[in-house]
Amino acid sequence: MNELPHLKEISKVKHAVLQKYLPAWEQILSSWHNRLVYIDCYAGAGVYRRGEPGSPIIALRTAKSFLQIEKNKNKEVVLFFIDKDKKTIDSLEQSIKKEGQLPTNLKCQCIQETAGNFVEELLKQVPKLAPAFFFIDPYGHPLPIPVMNKILERKSSEIFVNVMWHQINRDISNPQEHGRVTTLFGSEEWKRNPFINLRGLSREHSFIEYFKSLLKADFKFPFQVRFSKEDKVKGGENRTKYYLIHLSKHWKAVYLMKFVMSKLSQEEGLFYTSGRDNYGQQIIKFNDPMNEAKSVVLSKYKNGDSKTFEQILIDCWEYYFLEGDIRKALQQMEGRELNIVRIESKKTGLKGRDKVIFK
Ligand SMILES: C[S@@+](CC[C@H](N)C(=O)[O-])C[C@H]1O[C@@H](n2cnc3c(N)ncnc32)[C@H](O)[C@@H]1O
Repeated sequence: MNELPHLKEISKVKHAVLQKYLPAWEQILSSWHNRLVYIDCYAGAGVYRRGEPGSPIIALRTAKSFLQIEKNKNKEVVLFFIDKDKKTIDSLEQSIKKEGQLPTNLKCQCIQETAGNFVEELLKQVPKLAPAFFFIDPYGHPLPIPVMNKILERKSSEIFVNVMWHQINRDISNPQEHGRVTTLFGSEEWKRNPFINLRGLSREHSFIEYFKSLLKADFKFPFQVRFSKEDKVKGGENRTKYYLIHLSKHWKAVYLMKFVMSKLSQEEGLFYTSGRDNYGQQIIKFNDPMNEAKSVVLSKYKNGDSKTFEQILIDCWEYYFLEGDIRKALQQMEGRELNIVRIESKKTGLKGRDKVIFK
């Protein structure tokens, strides 16, 4: 009997994001750092029933390709794959062997441990962690928010976490499962939050806002993933299965993640955004993000305000539109609603330190 799990349509979403985000993350961060770390806290076996790669193998292949590029030959990537289950770790080690010889600057460790223990120990033992990407993909055994906050105290660490709303919502309604929700929050305080008395979408949105409010990241962007047809859930196409929340400390990271999500939404129609004021809207439906960016920017600033392009990007990070939409919007308004003083770019370009002066 093949004991490997079946890869559900809905889980392919997470993999598609990793496949697109990790190469860009490695390329950008390696401009300043020689060593990068990827930590898969709930790694799984690395391979699914039909041979599809799981998150650790995706990370491994990405790192291998990154290190094969001539200018990255002196860089190092360290991968930690954590799973509490012995059999799963054994399968993962087999999957890794099948990937062939790894370059010497690609270090890969499979560790049988619970995610919480591993992360706490790692952070204790390594006072200064290289830039690190933590993928947290629990299945009924959440990583507590206080542990996530310890990760986020580190300068260049970011988290991509799967928040299983469908499961959590059921747990909230069932006192016998409250222990799991308490583990997630790290205390029983959540029982006094208004979301528990709400229903439907109000509860969902209020929960996500509360969850985000407890996390010590500067940028917290949730993406909503709904049930796929395969799940055969009545009305599932309008119901949330889980949220993928990206937590980071740098505006460039959140814009990169929004870019990846938007591309996947357009190519595969998989994603829904839950950026500010737009809960539940599908990115692909916003067919005029540039004009949306125009009206948001105009409502934010008044006559005489002078902002760098970078500051405008930081002020607008919570909206679903992308850096390119904001750039285009500002360029189109140049001369009428605003002037641009080009400090960094030439002619009609627009880069971080260029100044935008509103009329
Ligand atoms: C959803 S699967 C991971 C799938 C994988 N991230 C992927 O995308 O291919 C969850 C895994 O977490 C493991 N697990 C469950 N509780 C854990 C814990 N407390 N710490 C670490 N791993 C755990 C399970 O053994 C299982 O293999």
